[in-house]
Amino acid sequence: MKHLIAPSVLSADFAHLYDDVKMINESSADWFHVDVMDGSFVPNISFGFPVISSLQHYARKPLDVHLMIVQPERYLEEFKRAGAKILTVHYEACTHLHRTVNAIQELGMKAGVAINPHTPVHVLEDILAETDLVLVMSVNPGFGGQKFIENTYRKLRALKEMRKATGTDFLIEVDGGVNSHNALALLKAGADVLVAGNSIFSAEDPAEEIAELKKIRID
Ligand code: DX5
Ligand code: ZN
Repeated sequence: MKHLIAPSVLSADFAHLYDDVKMINESSADWFHVDVMDGSFVPNISFGFPVISSLQHYARKPLDVHLMIVQPERYLEEFKRAGAKILTVHYEACTHLHRTVNAIQELGMKAGVAINPHTPVHVLEDILAETDLVLVMSVNPGFGGQKFIENTYRKLRALKEMRKATGTDFLIEVDGGVNSHNALALLKAGADVLVAGNSIFSAEDPAEEIAELKKIRID
Protein backbone atom coordinates (compact mmCIF):
# COMPACT_ATOMS: atom_id res chain seq x y z
CA MET A 1 0.00 0.00 0.00
CA LYS A 2 1.19 3.50 -0.85
CA HIS A 3 1.69 5.54 2.31
CA LEU A 4 -0.72 8.32 3.29
CA ILE A 5 -0.01 11.95 4.17
CA ALA A 6 -2.10 13.71 6.81
CA PRO A 7 -1.28 17.42 7.21
CA SER A 8 -2.02 18.62 10.73
CA VAL A 9 -4.48 21.51 10.71
CA LEU A 10 -3.10 22.58 14.11
CA SER A 11 -0.31 24.40 12.28
CA ALA A 12 -2.70 26.20 9.88
CA ASP A 13 -3.53 29.89 10.03
CA PHE A 14 -6.93 29.90 11.75
CA ALA A 15 -7.78 33.39 10.58
CA HIS A 16 -7.42 32.14 7.01
CA LEU A 17 -8.38 28.55 7.55
CA TYR A 18 -10.22 28.20 4.25
CA ASP A 19 -7.03 29.01 2.32
CA ASP A 20 -5.24 26.15 4.04
CA VAL A 21 -8.19 23.79 3.56
CA LYS A 22 -8.20 24.62 -0.14
CA MET A 23 -4.45 24.07 -0.34
CA ILE A 24 -4.83 20.61 1.28
CA ASN A 25 -7.81 19.78 -0.99
CA GLU A 26 -5.76 20.57 -4.06
CA SER A 27 -2.56 18.89 -2.81
CA SER A 28 -1.55 15.24 -2.86
CA ALA A 29 -2.47 14.89 0.84
CA ASP A 30 -4.77 12.02 1.75
CA TRP A 31 -6.38 13.07 5.04
CA PHE A 32 -6.87 16.14 7.23
CA HIS A 33 -5.31 15.49 10.65
CA VAL A 34 -7.39 17.30 13.26
CA ASP A 35 -5.94 17.65 16.80
CA VAL A 36 -8.40 18.17 19.64
CA MET A 37 -6.84 19.19 22.99
CA ASP A 38 -8.72 19.80 26.22
CA GLY A 39 -6.18 21.46 28.53
CA SER A 40 -6.40 18.43 30.81
CA PHE A 41 -4.99 15.40 29.01
CA VAL A 42 -2.42 17.74 27.46
CA PRO A 43 -1.22 21.17 28.60
CA ASN A 44 -2.83 22.99 25.68
CA ILE A 45 -6.28 23.76 24.27
CA SER A 46 -6.86 23.68 20.51
CA PHE A 47 -10.39 23.73 19.05
CA GLY A 48 -13.64 21.82 19.20
CA PHE A 49 -16.89 21.03 17.41
CA PRO A 50 -17.65 24.39 15.71
CA VAL A 51 -14.29 24.37 13.92
CA ILE A 52 -14.44 20.68 12.98
CA SER A 53 -18.04 20.99 11.71
CA SER A 54 -16.99 23.90 9.51
CA LEU A 55 -14.02 21.90 8.22
CA GLN A 56 -16.39 19.09 7.30
CA HIS A 57 -18.21 21.34 4.83
CA TYR A 58 -15.10 22.30 2.90
CA ALA A 59 -12.64 19.42 3.31
CA ARG A 60 -12.77 17.01 0.39
CA LYS A 61 -10.65 14.40 2.17
CA PRO A 62 -11.40 12.35 5.30
CA LEU A 63 -11.07 14.03 8.70
CA ASP A 64 -8.61 12.05 10.84
CA VAL A 65 -9.50 13.30 14.31
CA HIS A 66 -6.94 12.80 17.09
CA LEU A 67 -8.48 13.26 20.52
CA MET A 68 -6.06 14.41 23.20
CA ILE A 69 -8.83 14.64 25.78
CA VAL A 70 -9.73 12.80 28.98
CA GLN A 71 -12.72 10.43 28.88
CA PRO A 72 -13.19 10.71 25.12
CA GLU A 73 -16.07 8.21 25.31
CA ARG A 74 -18.31 11.13 26.38
CA TYR A 75 -18.20 12.75 22.94
CA LEU A 76 -18.07 10.02 20.29
CA GLU A 77 -21.44 10.84 18.71
CA GLU A 78 -20.66 14.55 18.58
CA PHE A 79 -17.40 13.87 16.74
CA LYS A 80 -19.26 11.65 14.31
CA ARG A 81 -21.74 14.46 13.69
CA ALA A 82 -18.90 16.96 13.29
CA GLY A 83 -17.54 14.85 10.43
CA ALA A 84 -14.83 12.55 11.85
CA LYS A 85 -14.12 9.56 9.57
CA ILE A 86 -11.27 8.22 11.66
CA LEU A 87 -11.50 8.82 15.40
CA THR A 88 -8.41 8.17 17.51
CA VAL A 89 -8.42 8.04 21.31
CA HIS A 90 -5.44 7.75 23.61
CA TYR A 91 -4.69 4.46 25.35
CA GLU A 92 -3.72 6.54 28.41
CA ALA A 93 -7.10 8.31 28.47
CA CYS A 94 -9.41 5.27 28.31
CA THR A 95 -10.19 2.99 31.23
CA HIS A 96 -12.40 0.83 28.99
CA LEU A 97 -10.52 1.08 25.73
CA HIS A 98 -12.11 -2.00 24.17
CA ARG A 99 -15.60 -0.62 24.78
CA THR A 100 -14.63 2.78 23.37
CA VAL A 101 -13.05 1.30 20.21
CA ASN A 102 -16.17 -0.77 19.60
CA ALA A 103 -18.44 2.23 20.20
CA ILE A 104 -16.51 4.29 17.62
CA GLN A 105 -16.90 1.52 15.05
CA GLU A 106 -20.59 1.05 15.83
CA LEU A 107 -21.07 4.72 14.97
CA GLY A 108 -19.58 3.99 11.54
CA MET A 109 -16.12 5.52 12.02
CA LYS A 110 -12.70 3.90 11.87
CA ALA A 111 -11.21 3.57 15.35
CA GLY A 112 -7.64 4.50 16.20
CA VAL A 113 -5.64 4.09 19.39
CA ALA A 114 -2.79 6.51 20.17
CA ILE A 115 0.13 5.93 22.51
CA ASN A 116 2.35 8.53 24.18
CA PRO A 117 6.14 8.32 23.81
CA HIS A 118 6.54 6.55 27.19
CA THR A 119 3.87 3.92 26.52
CA PRO A 120 5.26 0.62 25.24
CA VAL A 121 3.61 -0.93 22.18
CA HIS A 122 3.06 -4.27 23.89
CA VAL A 123 0.18 -2.87 25.97
CA LEU A 124 -1.84 -2.83 22.73
CA GLU A 125 -1.51 -6.56 22.19
CA ASP A 126 -5.12 -7.33 23.15
CA ILE A 127 -6.72 -4.50 21.20
CA LEU A 128 -4.84 -4.85 17.91
CA ALA A 129 -7.37 -7.21 16.36
CA GLU A 130 -10.12 -4.65 16.99
CA THR A 131 -8.43 -1.41 16.03
CA ASP A 132 -8.24 0.11 12.55
CA LEU A 133 -5.21 2.30 13.27
CA VAL A 134 -2.45 2.75 15.84
CA LEU A 135 -1.06 6.26 16.23
CA VAL A 136 2.47 6.40 17.62
CA MET A 137 3.25 9.78 19.17
CA SER A 138 6.79 10.78 18.29
CA VAL A 139 6.65 13.90 20.49
CA ASN A 140 4.85 14.47 23.76
CA PRO A 141 1.34 15.47 22.68
CA GLY A 142 0.17 19.03 23.11
CA PHE A 143 2.09 21.19 20.67
CA GLY A 144 3.19 21.33 17.07
CA GLY A 145 6.78 22.03 16.11
CA GLN A 146 8.53 19.84 18.70
CA LYS A 147 11.64 17.72 18.27
CA PHE A 148 11.17 14.16 17.02
CA ILE A 149 11.90 11.39 19.58
CA GLU A 150 14.29 8.82 18.08
CA ASN A 151 12.98 5.84 20.05
CA THR A 152 9.91 6.00 17.79
CA TYR A 153 11.68 3.92 15.12
CA ARG A 154 11.95 1.01 17.51
CA LYS A 155 8.25 1.25 18.35
CA LEU A 156 7.23 1.32 14.69
CA ARG A 157 9.33 -1.74 13.93
CA ALA A 158 7.87 -3.60 16.91
CA LEU A 159 4.31 -2.74 15.87
CA LYS A 160 4.92 -3.89 12.33
CA GLU A 161 6.25 -7.18 13.72
CA MET A 162 3.20 -7.53 15.97
CA ARG A 163 0.88 -6.90 13.02
CA LYS A 164 2.59 -9.63 11.03
CA ALA A 165 2.68 -12.08 13.93
CA THR A 166 -1.02 -11.61 14.69
CA GLY A 167 -2.25 -11.43 11.08
CA THR A 168 -4.03 -8.15 11.79
CA ASP A 169 -4.33 -5.23 9.41
CA PHE A 170 -4.38 -1.92 11.30
CA LEU A 171 -2.65 1.13 9.84
CA ILE A 172 0.39 2.55 11.63
CA GLU A 173 0.39 6.36 11.90
CA VAL A 174 3.26 8.46 13.22
CA ASP A 175 2.64 11.94 14.62
CA GLY A 176 5.08 14.62 15.75
CA GLY A 177 8.26 16.10 14.32
CA VAL A 178 7.82 14.39 10.95
CA ASN A 179 9.59 16.06 8.02
CA SER A 180 11.19 15.28 4.68
CA HIS A 181 14.45 14.29 6.42
CA ASN A 182 13.06 11.51 8.60
CA ALA A 183 10.06 10.45 6.46
CA LEU A 184 11.83 7.70 4.51
CA ALA A 185 13.26 6.12 7.65
CA LEU A 186 9.82 6.26 9.30
CA LEU A 187 8.19 4.55 6.33
CA LYS A 188 10.89 1.88 6.32
CA ALA A 189 10.41 1.31 10.03
CA GLY A 190 6.70 0.61 9.47
CA ALA A 191 4.69 3.83 9.25
CA ASP A 192 1.75 3.82 6.78
CA VAL A 193 0.49 7.32 7.58
CA LEU A 194 2.69 10.38 8.14
CA VAL A 195 1.20 13.29 10.08
CA ALA A 196 3.05 16.57 9.57
CA GLY A 197 2.21 20.03 10.82
CA ASN A 198 5.09 22.40 11.22
CA SER A 199 7.22 20.99 8.41
CA ILE A 200 4.36 21.51 5.93
CA PHE A 201 2.97 24.83 7.07
CA SER A 202 6.32 26.51 7.68
CA ALA A 203 7.53 25.54 4.21
CA GLU A 204 7.64 28.22 1.57
CA ASP A 205 5.34 26.09 -0.59
CA PRO A 206 3.25 23.80 1.67
CA ALA A 207 1.64 21.93 -1.26
CA GLU A 208 5.09 21.17 -2.64
CA GLU A 209 6.20 19.90 0.78
CA ILE A 210 3.19 17.58 0.85
CA ALA A 211 4.09 16.37 -2.65
CA GLU A 212 7.67 15.69 -1.47
CA LEU A 213 6.40 13.55 1.40
CA LYS A 214 3.94 11.74 -0.84
CA LYS A 215 6.36 10.87 -3.61
CA ILE A 216 8.88 9.07 -1.37
CA ARG A 217 9.43 5.51 -2.53
CA ILE A 218 10.33 2.88 0.00
CA ASP A 219 12.03 0.42 -2.32
C1 DX5 B 1 0.81 17.09 18.71
C2 DX5 B 1 -0.18 16.77 17.65
C3 DX5 B 1 0.39 16.70 16.30
C4 DX5 B 1 1.03 17.98 15.84
C5 DX5 B 1 2.17 17.59 14.95
O1 DX5 B 1 0.27 16.94 19.95
O2 DX5 B 1 -0.80 15.53 17.90
O3 DX5 B 1 -0.55 16.25 15.35
O4 DX5 B 1 0.16 18.84 15.16
O5 DX5 B 1 2.84 18.73 14.62
P1 DX5 B 1 4.35 18.72 14.11
O6 DX5 B 1 4.35 18.00 12.81
O7 DX5 B 1 4.62 20.19 13.97
O8 DX5 B 1 5.19 18.06 15.17
ZN1 ZN C 1 -2.08 14.64 16.21
